[in-house]
Parts: sequence; C-alpha cells; structure tokens
Amino acid sequence: MVCSLLDMFNIRFLLVCLILSANALSFAAAHSDSTGKSLSGFDTLEALYKGNERFKGVGSRKREAVSRLVEESTPSFMFLGCTDNRLTPASIFQSPIGSIISQNNIGNQYSKTDVSTDAAITYAIQELGVQHIIVLGHYGCPGVSKAITAPREDNPVMKWISPIVRLYKTTRRREIVKFRDSRMPHRGLPDGNKSAPSADEAGFRSLVEENVKRTVKALKEESILAKEYQRGAKTTPKESVEVYVHGFVFDEATGNVVNLNVSFGPPGFPIPSVPFGAVAAAKNFHREKHFPGFNKGKNL
Ligand SMILES: *[C@@H]1O[C@H](CO)[C@@H](O)[C@H](O)[C@H]1NC(C)=O
Ligand SMILES: *[C@@H]1O[C@H](CO)[C@@H](O)[C@H](O)[C@H]1NC(C)=O
Ligand SMILES: [Zn+2]
Repeated sequence: MVCSLLDMFNIRFLLVCLILSANALSFAAAHSDSTGKSLSGFDTLEALYKGNERFKGVGSRKREAVSRLVEESTPSFMFLGCTDNRLTPASIFQSPIGSIISQNNIGNQYSKTDVSTDAAITYAIQELGVQHIIVLGHYGCPGVSKAITAPREDNPVMKWISPIVRLYKTTRRREIVKFRDSRMPHRGLPDGNKSAPSADEAGFRSLVEENVKRTVKALKEESILAKEYQRGAKTTPKESVEVYVHGFVFDEATGNVVNLNVSFGPPGFPIPSVPFGAVAAAKNFHREKHFPGFNKGKNL
C-alpha cells in the first residue's frame, strides 16, 4: 500500500486508499475451499448488510466527498468485460472513484443485436464522453472454457456463447488448431476430451485472445462507432468522436495485462501509444484481408 501518513491529510487520497485497501484485501481473501464456498465468510445477506454499515460508517463528510467526486469526474474509460471476471477493472487498474464505467456479459462479447451493450456504448460516447473503450478478456475465462467443452445443453448460456464455439471450431490460429486436434475423438479417446482446460494451456489462452479480437473487430465494423467515424469524416475531422478501442487480456495469476495490439480509432487520428506489453500472437491481426481480426496462424 502506497498511502503514507502525509497523504492522509488529503481526503481525496484517503478515500482512494480506503477503497484500494478494501480491494487488496478482497483480492487476498478470494480463495475458496473444495466445496467452492467462499472462505472469506462473505456469503450471507447479513455479510452484505454489515459491509454496507461499514461503508456508511466512514462518516457523512467523507461520503459527501465521495459523491462529489463521482459527480465531478467524467469517466475516460469504459470497459467491456466478462460477467465472471471477479476482479473488477477498478481493482485491476486501481482507478480513482468515478473514473471508469463497465458493461459486462459472458465472454466480453459485442453484437449489434445485443441492445443492452449497444445502448451502454452509445451512452458512454454521447452522454459521458469516454475516450477509450477497452475490451477486457481474462485468461481462464469460464465462458470461453465452456465454448471449448461445449456441453450439449439448450440454455441461454450456450446460446450466448455460440459465437465463441464457432470461433473455436473455425479459427486457424496455430495454438488453437493443435489444442483442438488433441481434444478430438481419436484412438484411445473415442468421445474426445470433454474435461475443462486449465487456465495456462496455450490453446485456451489463445482462444481467450482471439475472442477479444473478435469483439474489437465487431465494435469496429458494427457498432455506433463505425457510423460516428463516418459522420466525422464527412464533416470536419474535429467533429469526429475521439474514441479509441483497445483489446486487452488480464491474467489473474500474475496481475499482468497484455495488449493484443488491435487498437483502432477515428480515421486520420493517430492511435495513442499503449504502454501495456503486446503479445506476439497479436501480430498479424491487420494482415489478414478477408477476415481482419482472425489470426490464421501464419507467420507466428
Ligand atoms: C483432457 O484435457 C485436460 C485439460 O485440457 C488435460 O489435462 C488432459 O490431459 C486431457 N486428457 C487426455 C486423455 O488427453
Ligand atoms: C502492433 O501493430 C502494428 C501495426 O498495426 C505493428 O507495426 C507493430 O509492430 C505491432 N506490435 C507488436 C508488438 O506486434
Ligand atoms: Zn470470463
């Protein structure tokens, strides 16, 4: 924790420290026993209630300062993340209160037929003026794992992740092809491998990455951004919305965030440099003409 005593005089900083400590604690406590039940004891409505009591206990002056902060701040970042990424962007990036907004769904996907996400993005751009939309995948994603094991279930989860199942079956990215082949039915394994992959398997990690790229590609081609960029290009460049989209993946095991190097922005504007390390596998995103966004496993 970097909050020194001197900083404590600064209420803004104190509040951020408070929240960061809480995040750090919840990170440390995020273990579960073999039954999957939380060891932190935070599993009853009573615990929820007590948490809120503690929150209120910081005192009305500090709370007013919090709400003032939220009111004053304009979020610069919108995250399009996964429902089951238990570590929020606020804890991963240690962001000040009120500085980011998020929209989550299973497998951090975008589809123009998903009205909820489309509305959130439109709102973020038009009402809040966010500058960066970050598609944030996470290694070990249970949604992507389910797309690999693809149980024959007819339910909303399988329906929602069907584009990831399709991506898994059709991608030609080398790591995934190898992984897919190894799980196919073969001699000694007549039904194929139905067990869930572990988070560190290269094929699984690559699929998490390709899925983020697929979302970025869909945002580029099908979301309100395409329309807004066109409108901007027809008028003066100044009127174009200056919104950039990036594809990142978070690694829970190390805390690392990797950049998939697939950022895009309004035509004619240079894309701001992204300080997060790029993964090599993202290299040929722009090279594939027919399916931009699909790494076909060449030149890796
Ligand atoms: C099945 O897949 C799991 C997870 O990827 C792996 O650990 C296991 O070795 C595989 N089993 C066989 C028989 O290949
Ligand atoms: C990222 O992509 C750009 C082109 O879009 C390329 O010039 C650069 O080398 C890439 N970086 C890495 C680390 O792959
Ligand atoms: Zn996930």
